[in-house]
Amino acid sequence: MSEMEVGMSQNSESREAESSEAVFSEAVSSESGSPRLLAGSTAIVTGASRGFGLAIATALVKAGAEVVGVARDAARLAAVAEDLGAAFVPVAADVADPALPARLLTAHRPSLVVLNAGATPEMRPLHERTWESFATVWETDVRQAFEWCGEALRSPLPAGSTVVAVSSMAAVGGGSPLSGGYAGAKGAMRFVASYAAQESERAGLGISFLTLMPMLTSLTGVGRVGVAGYAERQGVTVEEFLRARGPELRPEQVADAVLTMRDGRAANGTAFTLTAQGLEVLR
Ligand SMILES: NC(=O)c1ccc[n+]([C@@H]2O[C@H](COP(=O)([O-])OP(=O)(O)OC[C@H]3O[C@@H](n4cnc5c(N)ncnc54)[C@H](OP(=O)(O)O)[C@@H]3O)[C@@H](O)[C@H]2O)c1
Repeated sequence: MSEMEVGMSQNSESREAESSEAVFSEAVSSESGSPRLLAGSTAIVTGASRGFGLAIATALVKAGAEVVGVARDAARLAAVAEDLGAAFVPVAADVADPALPARLLTAHRPSLVVLNAGATPEMRPLHERTWESFATVWETDVRQAFEWCGEALRSPLPAGSTVVAVSSMAAVGGGSPLSGGYAGAKGAMRFVASYAAQESERAGLGISFLTLMPMLTSLTGVGRVGVAGYAERQGVTVEEFLRARGPELRPEQVADAVLTMRDGRAANGTAFTLTAQGLEVLR
């Protein structure tokens, strides 16, 4: 995951709110006094049991949304439900299951779907791989984007809803030479989301399909394995590798980026890179 470091700046330019729902009305939490901008809305977050997905689910619950959280490990999801309370609805399932999106989109009618679940590629060079190990991320991440974006159009999701595909900056840099098909798969997710956006536009469905491309960070599962692998390849310690890269992207920043994209505070665009310095539209 030799991701291109791009200078980022937070862009506060507004894009017109597309939501026809009342879910972003300024309901205010009586407990904290803080705005609960998503009160009354439902979101589906895949990979919600840890890493970026857990941070996204937590931020959405705090903002007042009901969050349907998907991952395979039921025990870990139950622990999250214990922490986040009744607003978190755990669903133990494989995101690549083609029957899953229709079941969950019909049952919950979300206004936000975050396709964040991702396989962790084992780290090894090309010539030491089987095709199966090269294709792991395609079978999970790309298939997830394919199945869920397709169903979002077919069902269809309500006008004003948003689907965010969590891709990676590996897809805009020099690739991921030790991570097999990772960079290509994350690039394919962006294409799938953009194809879905075109179909939404053609049919006048009013569904936004956006792509978020975070930079490598050792603070969550996929990145931790990547950082260890690339540090070893360079013959440096993990600490030395990280020091040379500068500030690490934190999961809370990923959560904040998803909310920023959803509520129209990001620059006008459909794909965004994200570093510790902020979110930037990819032209
Ligand atoms: N960390 C980084 O540096 C980085 C950088 C750019 C992009 N990303 C992308 O961001 C996303 C999250 O990464 P992360 O580092 O936060 O990952 P993580 O900590 O390893 O968490 C992955 C989550 O996805 C779930 N998951 C994996 N395979 C699944 C499947 N087949 N069905 C359902 N759930 C599944 C996991 O739960 P179960 O195992 O229980 O299913 C877990 O909740 C991934 O798509 C990743 O490619 C990460």
